[in-house]
Amino acid sequence: MQKAIVVGATSGIGKALTLLLAKHHYTVGITGRRADLLAELKQENPENFHALAFDVVDFEQTAVNLNQLAEKLGGVDLLIYCAGVGELNAYLAIDLELPTIDVNVKAFNQVVVWGYKQFEQQKKGQIAVITSIAGLRGGAISPAYNASKAYQINYLEGLRQKANQQKLEITITDLRPGFVATAMAKGDQQFWVAEPEKAALQIFNAIKAKKSVSYITKRWNIIAWLLKLMPRFLYQRL
Ligand SMILES: NC(=O)c1ccc[n+]([C@@H]2O[C@H](COP(=O)([O-])OP(=O)(O)OC[C@H]3O[C@@H](n4cnc5c(N)ncnc54)[C@H](OP(=O)(O)O)[C@@H]3O)[C@@H](O)[C@H]2O)c1
Repeated sequence: MQKAIVVGATSGIGKALTLLLAKHHYTVGITGRRADLLAELKQENPENFHALAFDVVDFEQTAVNLNQLAEKLGGVDLLIYCAGVGELNAYLAIDLELPTIDVNVKAFNQVVVWGYKQFEQQKKGQIAVITSIAGLRGGAISPAYNASKAYQINYLEGLRQKANQQKLEITITDLRPGFVATAMAKGDQQFWVAEPEKAALQIFNAIKAKKSVSYITKRWNIIAWLLKLMPRFLYQRL
């Protein structure tokens, strides 16, 4: 039986993905801060879900918590980082910018390093992170969010290169959604909004296929292509 940890399983994409993993007979360690939602989710599949509520920003405890979950599962094959924070911040309130960096950069970094070291020891494993198409370019209404997602994308590329250099069977999968109908999707300029279940299915398939990068849903490949091609002088006028 495959064993996975989903960090950020209490709602949205992480919750939909957790339910899908259970459907495919994974044993899953589920985390998030909202203990009540974790308990509800555990009820869906008490045999296969192991819950541990914690805040990833409690940096001193994160590795301890992940070790505890891994022990309960009896090992880990797949680590998924779904936790994320994203606020529209047109006025650059610093108290909105900094928590984004805490969860999307510092905690992300700590969790994936924990996973990489586990997988380095066992010489195989898979790390999957829900980054975002927002990481491809800067963003005026959520600069910290876009920059944090760029950090994740770049960091994952570094880990992929490292695993290759070390000749380890560690797969690094970078999942880049456009808009998904969750609490995170804010603002009135949304389009092509996918339901979390549809996004989770495409994410699951990309993980199973050991993809390096995948846009979620598939049509966001077009936007990614446009974003990457658009010259700076045009982009800054958008
Ligand atoms: N929805 C979209 O349109 C969209 C688009 C592109 C990328 N994404 C990315 O997808 C990922 C999942 O987001 P979502 O859309 O599913 O939104 P969501 O429903 O708000 O899920 C966010 C998850 O992150 C967890 N989380 C946040 N802060 C945490 C903390 N300090 N400690 C532990 N867990 C924490 C939340 O759990 P607790 O609150 O229980 O702690 C929750 O499970 C995020 O990384 C987001 O950037 C979303």
